[in-house]
Amino acid sequence: MPAREPIGPQAILDKKKRYMIPCTYHFYRDPPQIVRGQGVHLYDSSGKRYLDLYSGVSVHALGHCHPELVEAICEQVRTLQHATTIYLTEPIVNLAEQLAAVLPGRVCRTFFCCSGSEANEGAALLATLHTGRNEFLAFQNGLHGRTKLGMSLTGLSFWRTDPHPVGGITLVSPPHCVRCPWGQTQGQCRFECVDAVERAILTGTSGKPAAMFVEPVQGNGGIMVPPSEYFPRLRELLNRYGTLLIADEVQTGFGRTGRMFAMERWNVAPDIVTGGKALGGGTPVGFFSTTDEIAACYTRPGASTFGGNPVTARAGLKFLEILQRDGLAARSEYVGGQLKDRLMRLAQKTDIISDVRGLGLMIGTEIAGRDSRFAAECTDQILERMKDAGYLLGKTGPGRNVLTWMPPLIVEPDELMEAVDTLETVLKTL
Ligand SMILES: Cc1ncc(COP(=O)(O)O)c(C=O)c1O
Repeated sequence: MPAREPIGPQAILDKKKRYMIPCTYHFYRDPPQIVRGQGVHLYDSSGKRYLDLYSGVSVHALGHCHPELVEAICEQVRTLQHATTIYLTEPIVNLAEQLAAVLPGRVCRTFFCCSGSEANEGAALLATLHTGRNEFLAFQNGLHGRTKLGMSLTGLSFWRTDPHPVGGITLVSPPHCVRCPWGQTQGQCRFECVDAVERAILTGTSGKPAAMFVEPVQGNGGIMVPPSEYFPRLRELLNRYGTLLIADEVQTGFGRTGRMFAMERWNVAPDIVTGGKALGGGTPVGFFSTTDEIAACYTRPGASTFGGNPVTARAGLKFLEILQRDGLAARSEYVGGQLKDRLMRLAQKTDIISDVRGLGLMIGTEIAGRDSRFAAECTDQILERMKDAGYLLGKTGPGRNVLTWMPPLIVEPDELMEAVDTLETVLKTL
């Protein structure tokens, strides 16, 4: 139990209203105060237990407070918490070494920072340094961060607050095989979605963009999975224009989609990989990684005060050790497959679910409605009732109508089946 009495949800809401910048957004009409996490469960101030089906937005791959992770972090906190990279410390280089062993293709050199947004900022700088170019492409419905540039690369109006986004960024339509913007059917099309990227290069840029940012599976965009030929074709197109491919694996990385990195699924080697979230085991982390050739252009001094600090680096090392030792990427593929099957069977029984999609333990259940506002309201009601029943789901999609399942990778199939049974009951109450 927490060391002191929790102040309770209402007092938190009051302080939030009084002292925080109002943009800090939260879920639920009647939100609980979360005070403790253990394994796949979270507990609120009244002692109520919830199955965590969102993992703090794809962070807690090992579950909450994994004992070995806690031990490694505590031991490091007692020994050396912080020094910065102006002094030599060991955990940061060991983590870079371990990452090199698991990163896709020839990506093997890393710079550490503290968040996914910062990682994407760094990747953009690196791409500019290497190519001498300054224009970028990104997907509509993609999300790459909260900072000025990260937000400008983001193609979701919900998260695009800035009225004056950074110039030189062209947003292109991602593939969407369920509702193809070009009216095509999967398996019978000519990949008009890849042609659209070429058109964007030729008409929206100077013809020489530095890089294209992609999420291998769009997370906040509503768990959108591309067809398997998409990324190999895109890679080939970008090569023709000397444009780098930046894979934002902040959300998809580290077993979430059933592979260590989602891009592995299509055998596509990105030039730069950005990451964060799960690697820190709950401590703040971000990184961008690249090949020897591209890294060679970034020689002027770079520093991040907290990037790769000993505590986060030790957490990252222990996290990677456990993830691989326990085969959690393969587990994500297997357990996620069971969850998806069960959700698809549920979708056949109801008109409320219009699509089920995803890879591994990154699954979206799209909620239908007579219009988009109705679907979003319906999704909120489901989320609230699932929370009341003890299940914390996520919510994504441009219409905010995709129930999002990203539980810790250690979740048991039975726990997920019970969650879907509960969802089935909740859908009947709508
Ligand atoms: C794909 C992706 N990129 C970048 C970010 C930004 O990461 P952070 O919130 O750590 O800055 C997120 C956050 O959800 C994300 O999902």
